[in-house]
Amino acid sequence: MIELDKEIAAVWEVIINGDANWLATTILEFDLTIENANSVLSKKNKSIKEQAFSTILKNRIYHGGIITKGSGLIKNGENGKGIKSRWYAKTLHDRISAINFVKNKIDFRTGDAFDFLEKNISEKEKYFFIDPPYIKAGRRLYTYFDIDHERLFKITSRLSGKYLLTYDDTDEIRSLADKYNLVYKTIPMKTTHHIQKNEIIISDNFDWWV
Ligand SMILES: C[S@@+](CC[C@H](N)C(=O)[O-])C[C@H]1O[C@@H](n2cnc3c(N)ncnc32)[C@H](O)[C@@H]1O
Repeated sequence: MIELDKEIAAVWEVIINGDANWLATTILEFDLTIENANSVLSKKNKSIKEQAFSTILKNRIYHGGIITKGSGLIKNGENGKGIKSRWYAKTLHDRISAINFVKNKIDFRTGDAFDFLEKNISEKEKYFFIDPPYIKAGRRLYTYFDIDHERLFKITSRLSGKYLLTYDDTDEIRSLADKYNLVYKTIPMKTTHHIQKNEIIISDNFDWWV
């Protein structure tokens, strides 16, 4: 797994390469009030552990889980529970603990996925799952939304290994896939607002497709 955004990467660094138990326990024991949350979020020069906790907290108490600049705290939330609406501490604790059990099977790096793909372009035995920020929705969701999509299509088309690349179904993505001779299928999916949309799956192999 590779992630460029330091706020997000800190979560994986702590779970996979650091002290997952600390993060799970800190979440479970946190007394969620506006004052306590602000004190975590506003702390300067956070350690990587503090950054990991701060990112999880932000994701759970900000509107739509969006942690980018310009986002803000949930006001009313589910059943008027405000910032507590989506703070499922026990669930988060249990998920992190579950990942902790299998973390020796996961290799996480903070970095640029383009570099990794380019370095591994001739690796026949590798399977790449590429989940980039989508063209439309990515802008709202991620700090690093503005990636060079054409460059990603170009690199993908040159991979010797296997790959699965997911995208939102837009004219731009379809024409990039056509331009680089990449084969794709569309699949229906539901957004968090239960709106039916199509996504595009690009792969070197659709033998499994039914
Ligand atoms: C659709 S999300 C992927 C989420 C991930 N699959 C997960 O489930 O946690 C796209 C992610 O790509 C990251 N990103 C953007 N540019 C990147 C780059 N050059 N290298 C690595 N990650 C990047 C964004 O920060 C964002 O977290």
